[in-house]
Amino acid sequence: MKQAIFLRARATLCGAAFAAALTASAGSSFAAVPPKAGPMIVQPATTMEQAVKDGARIFAQDSFGTKQTWVPNGAFNSHLMSCAACHTSGGLTEGVTPSGARLPSLIGAASNYPKFKAKKHAVYTLERQIVHCVRAGIMGQPPGYDSAEMVDLVVYLTALSKGAAMGHQMPAVAH
Ligand code: HEC
Repeated sequence: MKQAIFLRARATLCGAAFAAALTASAGSSFAAVPPKAGPMIVQPATTMEQAVKDGARIFAQDSFGTKQTWVPNGAFNSHLMSCAACHTSGGLTEGVTPSGARLPSLIGAASNYPKFKAKKHAVYTLERQIVHCVRAGIMGQPPGYDSAEMVDLVVYLTALSKGAAMGHQMPAVAH
């Protein structure tokens, strides 16, 4: 029991310190930025730091060519929408689905991919999950599997899992 409490306290601390470090490295406070259409990457990143920054920006701002969004009553509306519309604060905090269900933070999520999806009897890569989110969540055009945009999103999500053990749910950062 003591051990569990210690581990949780440690994980929370790690999460907070990590979020601060990531926020600094991504160069943004994850403040809500209106999504926009159009290319997000002018020059593909040549360093990991740059890929994380680009990924954070894509996550916060790319509309994936959709105008679908949802409003608090769960109805779809006609506004541009990004990953951050559901996965709040760059995925560091718990999000809310269009139907109002709580969505876990993405801290540590990447360390559980590739992931077995029992209902489909399929193993999802992180890329396939991203494609699923864009198609099913916002009816948008997902980035291609090998596109620079997909690479940056995967690098960004992987950075959110640095130090996370496989098979554990990491605590979200408080809103
Ligand atoms: C309409 C809301 C919505 C949007 C927009 C959305 N997601 Fe998701 N996302 C979800 C939901 C709901 C889940 C959990 C259920 C599931 O697996 O589909 C999820 C799960 C995930 C997971 C897996 C988490 C885990 O622990 O298994 C990742 C990674 C993810 N989303 C990344 C993204 C990225 C990157 C984008 C933008 C390209 C995005 N999501 C856009 C709703 C959304």
